[in-house]
Amino acid sequence: MLEKTIYNDNQVKSKKRVADHGEVFTSEREVNEMLDLVKNETERIDSRFLEPACGNGNFLAEILNRKLNVVDLRYIKNQNEWEKYAIIGISSVYGVDIMEDNTLECRARLLKIFEQRYSANFSAKISLDCLKSVEYILNRNILWGNALDFTNPNTNEPIVFSEWTNVSGSMIKRRDYVFRFLVEKTHQFSLFNEEGQPAAIDEPVKDYPVLHFLKLAEYDTNQL
Ligand SMILES: C[S@@+](CC[C@H](N)C(=O)[O-])C[C@H]1O[C@@H](n2cnc3c(N)ncnc32)[C@H](O)[C@@H]1O
Repeated sequence: MLEKTIYNDNQVKSKKRVADHGEVFTSEREVNEMLDLVKNETERIDSRFLEPACGNGNFLAEILNRKLNVVDLRYIKNQNEWEKYAIIGISSVYGVDIMEDNTLECRARLLKIFEQRYSANFSAKISLDCLKSVEYILNRNILWGNALDFTNPNTNEPIVFSEWTNVSGSMIKRRDYVFRFLVEKTHQFSLFNEEGQPAAIDEPVKDYPVLHFLKLAEYDTNQL
């Protein structure tokens, strides 16, 4: 069932879902035509994309493919560099969907794209740490949530996104931001920082230690 939903270009799962959530998936041709309007950005490895109604990832999958094409072209001869830039590429792709099954399918789909590309390039030498980092990032970047009220429909907790930045060499800095504040700038002064002062719109709600790109999963907490 999952395979069928993901890999066919099916545009509708059920009439009820279309009526309840406007769930009609975009065809591959349309996805490509729309992404071609911002072709340069889709081919920039660290260009950030957020799909606020990502479904099972039709746009995000193609964006990831395009980024990985560039990573292949530039870094295929050096596995460590390929892994680092592929992780930078995947960490710049974000999605939200109100249907939990869509977010799970989207994560699985992006992970599979990464795994297939990685094993095709480096076959026997693939690293478990690299796959763990990718899986960890996808769990943080593709979130179950309502993009209209910026909360998780199950917990009512605010949606919090992680920003991943390559700070030097192999090191990645993670900062977490409240999605609502990134979108609704008028709310910026309702969030207070650690000193009790109004936080700037770009102030993270959590700052993490700098980590090696292959060790991202080791700092395993989603707590604010
Ligand atoms: C028209 S489909 C598009 C899916 C995907 N972007 C694509 O192009 O294939 C709309 C998607 O929005 C999701 N959705 C509907 N209301 C939403 C909301 N308030 N917040 C987040 N996602 C929502 C649906 O579950 C569905 O997956």
